[in-house]
Amino acid sequence: MTNIEELRAQLLGRIAASAQPRDILKADEIKQLYSVIPTLEPSERGTYGKAVNELKIALEAAVAAREAEVENAAVEPLDVTAPWDVNTGPVSLLPTDQGTQHPLTSELERIIDIFTRMGFEAHESRQIDDDWNMFGALNFPENHPARDGYDSFRTEEGFIPPAHTSTMQNRVLKAGKAKLEAGGYIASVSYGRVFRNEDVDTTHDHTFYQQEGIYVSETANLGQMIAVLKSFYEAYFEQGMNIKTQPGYFPFVEPGLEFCIERPASIGGKPGDWLEMLGCGMIHPNVLRAANIDSEKYRGFAWGGGVERMIMLRHGIEDLRHFESGKLQFLRKFA
Ligand code: PHE
Repeated sequence: MTNIEELRAQLLGRIAASAQPRDILKADEIKQLYSVIPTLEPSERGTYGKAVNELKIALEAAVAAREAEVENAAVEPLDVTAPWDVNTGPVSLLPTDQGTQHPLTSELERIIDIFTRMGFEAHESRQIDDDWNMFGALNFPENHPARDGYDSFRTEEGFIPPAHTSTMQNRVLKAGKAKLEAGGYIASVSYGRVFRNEDVDTTHDHTFYQQEGIYVSETANLGQMIAVLKSFYEAYFEQGMNIKTQPGYFPFVEPGLEFCIERPASIGGKPGDWLEMLGCGMIHPNVLRAANIDSEKYRGFAWGGGVERMIMLRHGIEDLRHFESGKLQFLRKFA
């Protein structure tokens, strides 16, 4: 027994001093303790076996503690005030597998870049708004069935997580009024998250992104709008595009149109493969008036539509739900 106690003290000392303490568990001295058992009187074997077992448990615990100590000692202290790259070396607390931009972020930046190069200012759309901005200022009469078409959520207090980026139109128009009246124009894109209470499937989610443009001047017209949108899609898909418009109804534009592109052959399209990309049209005079803009003197066009469907086309993504899923397998494709 004293033998076991001595051995315990000796091995604990060695573990505490070792960089690879687990090897010590395989020490010959321990094996010998076991080999003694058959030579003992049967009456002694129980107590002896128990003592050997306790020794083993104590050594295992000491090894685990020492291993943690060794691992921590290998990590340099993290300087939280240092720039990121100082903290990334071969030995670091930080993961070597660093994050990347979400495809929605990088693609939105790409979209916004195209519009800002055309002279549009960009504003992020808000994620909670009121009835006036979401509907009232956009020429939706009270209790009009067109409001139901937006499947909007509503808080108990009556606030609305916007169902479209058009919720920014009244603010953009009011903010641009002075510039307009000084002889300038309003050119703005709003982008951001929107929310709809609808059934989720491969092409619908309750949360998605939209981008939306507004242009107001004394001479704005549909020809300009179509040229802006065609140029935009050509820049985004990096090739010439066939486009068409068809009538569409939105209370805040008159005439209202749906803007379609023909899916290019480079992404699996055949002639006649028309895809509806967004809603657009000439801003309704009531929408200009709601922002105190003289609707006799000024006119404007606006467009708005989903962002994910563009990214899906460009990158051949089959399921819209991937974007909000947080699946690494999906995100790594964009790393
Ligand atoms: N807000 C509309 C939608 O989400 C799209 C739209 C924007 C239509 C601007 C016309 C002008 O359905």
